[in-house]
Amino acid sequence: MVKAVVLGAAGGIGQPLALLLKASPLVDQLGLYDIVNTPGVAADLSHIATPAKVEGYLPPDDGLKKALTGADVVVIPAGVPRKPGMTRDDLFKINAGIVRDLATGIATVAPKAFILVISNPVNSTVPIVAEVLKKHGVFDPKRLFGVTTLDVVRASTFVAEVINDLSVASKVVVPVVGGHSGVTIVPLLSQSSHPLPSSFSQDQLQALTTRVQFGGDEVVKAKDGAGSATLSMAYAGAEFAVKVISAIKGETGIVAPSYVHLSADKTSGDALKKEIGKDLEYFSAPVVIGAEGVVEIKPLGKLTDFEKGLIQAAIPELETNIEKGVSFIGGSK
Ligand code: NAI
Repeated sequence: MVKAVVLGAAGGIGQPLALLLKASPLVDQLGLYDIVNTPGVAADLSHIATPAKVEGYLPPDDGLKKALTGADVVVIPAGVPRKPGMTRDDLFKINAGIVRDLATGIATVAPKAFILVISNPVNSTVPIVAEVLKKHGVFDPKRLFGVTTLDVVRASTFVAEVINDLSVASKVVVPVVGGHSGVTIVPLLSQSSHPLPSSFSQDQLQALTTRVQFGGDEVVKAKDGAGSATLSMAYAGAEFAVKVISAIKGETGIVAPSYVHLSADKTSGDALKKEIGKDLEYFSAPVVIGAEGVVEIKPLGKLTDFEKGLIQAAIPELETNIEKGVSFIGGSK
C-alpha cells in the first residue's frame, strides 16, 4: 500500500498533479493538503474510478498532520510561481518559509517519507528541507529529491523538434545535470540517445542549450502574469513520483534525474564531486532509486569542452543558492 501526499494540492501544479496520481494504479491512498480548496479538489477526484482513496485537508483541525499521517511519498508544489521578469531566486522570500513549515510537518509526522520538492527555487528549497530534517534528527539523504524532471522533459521535446520527429519525444533521453535555475541547468546534449544532426553548428548548440536552460521563461512570458509552467510540470512531477513509487513497490533498475544531497550514496557522490572538481553538497544527476531511496548517483561521463564550461559556469550560482537555503534554517556546512 502506498500513500502519496501533495502539499499545495489546490494550485496550478497541484491539481493536475493530483489528477495524474489519482489516475495511477500504483497509488493506493492520496492525501491532499493546501491552505485553500482541497475539500473540493478531493471530492472531485474521488469520483474517478481508480483505486486511490482521496482525502483533502485544510490547515484547521491539524489538517497538515492528518494529510501526512502514513505518507510514503510527499510531493511539494506549494508556494508562489514566477511572474514575467522574475528569477526563481526572487521567489525565495515567500517560498522558503512555506517549505520550512511543511518540512517541519513532515519531520514530525512522516519522517521516513520520500520527499519530492517542486517549490522554487529548488536549488535552495531542497537544502531548507534537509536542514529542517537535520534539526529534528531525521534527515535521510537517500529520501530527499529536488524535482528537475521538467528540464529533462523539455530537453527531450526540444531535441525531438530539432530532429523533426515529435513521435520519438518520449523516448529521447538527454541527461540534464547541475541544478534547477538558468545557467545551473546543464543539458548534456552530446549524450542524447537521439544524436543531433551532424550539420548542427556550435551556434545552434548554444541556442538549444539556452532554450533548455530558460525554457521556463517561455511559459512565464506566454502566460503573461498568470504564473509559470503548471501542466508540463504536473506531467513531469507525476512521471518522477510514479518512478519513486515503483521503486518503493520493489521495481529495480529505476533511473531518474534528480537534485540530491551528494552524501545520498557516499561512493558515487564523492566520485561526482571529483568529476565536477568541487565539493558541492547538492547536484542534480541521473540517480538510481531503490526501495530505500537513492542507490547510486550516476557519473556525468564523457563531456565535451562546451559542456565542461557549462558545468563550471553553474557551480558558483549553485554554491550561493545552496548556502542561502542552509543559512535560512541556521544550519552550518
Ligand atoms: P500556484 O500559486 O498555482 O499554486 C501554489 C499553491 O500552493 C496554491 O494553491 C497555494 O494555496 C498553496 N500554498 C501556499 N502556501 C501554502 C502552505 N503554507 N501550505 C500549503 N499550500 C500552500 O503555483 P504553481 O504554479 O502551482 O507553482 C507552485 C511552485 O512550483 C512555485 O514555487 C513554482 O515556482 C514551482 N515550479 C517548479 C517547477 C520545477 O521544475 N521544479 C516548475 C514550475 C513551477
